[in-house]
Amino acid sequence: MVASTVGIDAMAFHGPECFVDMVELATARGVDPGKYTKGLGQLEMAVATPCEDTVSLATVAARKCLTAFDIDPQEIGTLIVGTETGVDHSKPVAVYVHELLGLPSNCRTFETKHACYGAMAGLTSAIDWIVAGRARGKKALIVASDIARYGAGTPGEPTQGAGAVAMVVSETPRLLALDKEVFGDYTRQVMDFWRPLYSKYAFTDGHYSIDCYLDALSGAWSDAAAKAGSHDRVAMRNLNACFYHVPFVKMARKAHHRHWEVELGRSISREDEEHAMKVTDSFEVLVSPWLTLNAIVGNIYTGSLFLALIDYLRAADESREGGNISMFSYGSGCGAAFCFAKVVEGASRHAGRLDPSTALAARRKLAIAEYEEILAAYDAADANDGEHLSPARWKLRGDLFYIGTRNHIRQYYP
Ligand code: CAA
Repeated sequence: MVASTVGIDAMAFHGPECFVDMVELATARGVDPGKYTKGLGQLEMAVATPCEDTVSLATVAARKCLTAFDIDPQEIGTLIVGTETGVDHSKPVAVYVHELLGLPSNCRTFETKHACYGAMAGLTSAIDWIVAGRARGKKALIVASDIARYGAGTPGEPTQGAGAVAMVVSETPRLLALDKEVFGDYTRQVMDFWRPLYSKYAFTDGHYSIDCYLDALSGAWSDAAAKAGSHDRVAMRNLNACFYHVPFVKMARKAHHRHWEVELGRSISREDEEHAMKVTDSFEVLVSPWLTLNAIVGNIYTGSLFLALIDYLRAADESREGGNISMFSYGSGCGAAFCFAKVVEGASRHAGRLDPSTALAARRKLAIAEYEEILAAYDAADANDGEHLSPARWKLRGDLFYIGTRNHIRQYYP
């Protein structure tokens, strides 16, 4: 039977146990702290130790998601991990997660990669699987898991971060019903951000990447508007919240400005005070309030859009139910999607289940010297038969860790 509804039934975030303060990082780099905190909008940045890799972050986020929403692993029929930070050229992160979660052997499992667009690609694939009638009552688990690394002293350093968002997609969603017909797509070959096979650090043409992001937003929105047929279906005046890919918080402001322009059909200059003011007011209402998690976690690449969504849903009360939202995903290179959804009736009852604030409040702040020690240790962490990686060295308290590679096989503890 073809599903009439499809959407997000459950969500959870899991991030590293350590972070750095952006004022301290700016001071250490000889930069005015205002550049990081106001210019980029970042207050803190999650730092993954060598024991916290894409697999452990993804697995713990998925466990939290299934447990908090009372979903039996046997109900999962598709597992997709979207990541830029794969751990193997061949073997997908997803198959490690499959084993660690104890998912059934008839669960199809794979990894999607397109920089920060990987999880959105996974989400659309899961929707198609359900809408096509192949799920047969089962649910899809999509996990976005990444560690953003540009390296110490680079312009990209203050836009790093790490973490994973897990979401279950089903035909009886408790959180969000997706508009399964209107998906605006955009693809273009650009060299704005990439990471060759030999590098653990991303290469980026930073300012060009911002232009590429905004062009992709225009392209994906225009495609969505054309597919929607009626302007009303995509109009911002009918939206209660707009979500964008958030490599750093200020980028969402730039994105919202472009969203306005593309809907208006012309650019808005600073001299056009009337419209510039409207964009600012609209940003404060539709976007800014739910960027608080992104501001203290940093860029989690393919999960960053969904982290903002968690911020929105964790504070949802009944007044948000039935409201429409938009989502824009951008992956450098580049691929993008613009789509729409509705908060389902009863979603506010689940707000407490997806709130990560307790774990975030328990994070340990790193001195900048210790953060730099972690960067150096990370470089050696994937060496075959290298040092045994001890979670105690970084005072970690969690329950799943990468502890090194033995005989070319990654080891996890416990
Ligand atoms: N007080 C307040 N604001 C200040 C300031 C101060 N003291 N000093 C500077 N600023 C402001 C600047 O005016 C600027 O604001 P606007 O963009 O509004 O003009 C902002 O701070 C940043 O300053 P710069 O542009 O001078 O910063 P930069 O040249 O060092 O680089 C960056 C910024 C390009 C984002 C860089 O951090 C970078 O390369 N990051 C990685 C790439 C990236 O995140 N790209 C985003 C689009 S691609 C994408 O989204 C995919 C992905 O996840 C990677």
